Amino acid sequence: MTTLAILTAAGSGTRLGRDLPKALVELGGFPLVLHAARRLAASRVVDAIVVTAPPGLAAAMSDVVTADAHVSCPVRVVDGGPTRQASVAAGLALARPEDDVVIVHDAARPLASPDLVRRVLDAVRAGHPAVVPGMPVTDTIKRVSPVPVGAVRTAPGPAVERVVETPDRATLRAVQTPQGFDRALLERAHAAGADRAVADNLAATDDAGLVEALGEPVHVVAGEESALKITTERDLAVARMLLEEPA
Ligand code: C5P
Repeated sequence: MTTLAILTAAGSGTRLGRDLPKALVELGGFPLVLHAARRLAASRVVDAIVVTAPPGLAAAMSDVVTADAHVSCPVRVVDGGPTRQASVAAGLALARPEDDVVIVHDAARPLASPDLVRRVLDAVRAGHPAVVPGMPVTDTIKRVSPVPVGAVRTAPGPAVERVVETPDRATLRAVQTPQGFDRALLERAHAAGADRAVADNLAATDDAGLVEALGEPVHVVAGEESALKITTERDLAVARMLLEEPA
């Protein structure tokens, strides 16, 4: 019974506007992927890590993560795919026979804490085969649909969308990574959804979505603010602030 962590780092991160892939952008002097790998290792519940690398950058990614003294578990690097879903599938193909639980985590969430990794894993080992961290939602969220051109006659003005639904905020969670899975269930979910992995508009944005598509239950544990996702420069500035906060 061992736990494999797949650390997705193969995205381009174009919204950060750097020449580097996002996972190699530095925060407090270290690349995002290294922050994430260090925290996975520090949880002491991860036995090995597979990092998904952008095309042509497997060696650079390997130099960053495998040489680090704080990443105490074995690390392998695999070429990622065209979508996050394809990258996770590539990582999953490297699972060892003894790995019965798989944690999938994004390098784009570099400050997710070792405590959070343990909380997710504990819930999986307690018998929930698919577990995600989730945060309460503070905004009111509305589902919208495009307004067909010419459907409504109005004077020229800003682009509008039509509100379709306002789900009860109390029942919503903003979902983060690390997400934890029974390995056989995650493999089944990826196999069933494999035809979606080719293009961004089809691919699952998280692994739990593939499990839900099988009709299998997914459970939520408490997430944390520090597991924020880095997409923009502003997110990086917030992460820098969190990093500087006394523990
Ligand atoms: O692009 P976004 O930030 O949503 O990506 C989420 C995570 O998935 C990131 O850690 C990114 O490196 C990873 N990813 C990947 N392979 C892709 C696209 C994204 O491993 N093809």
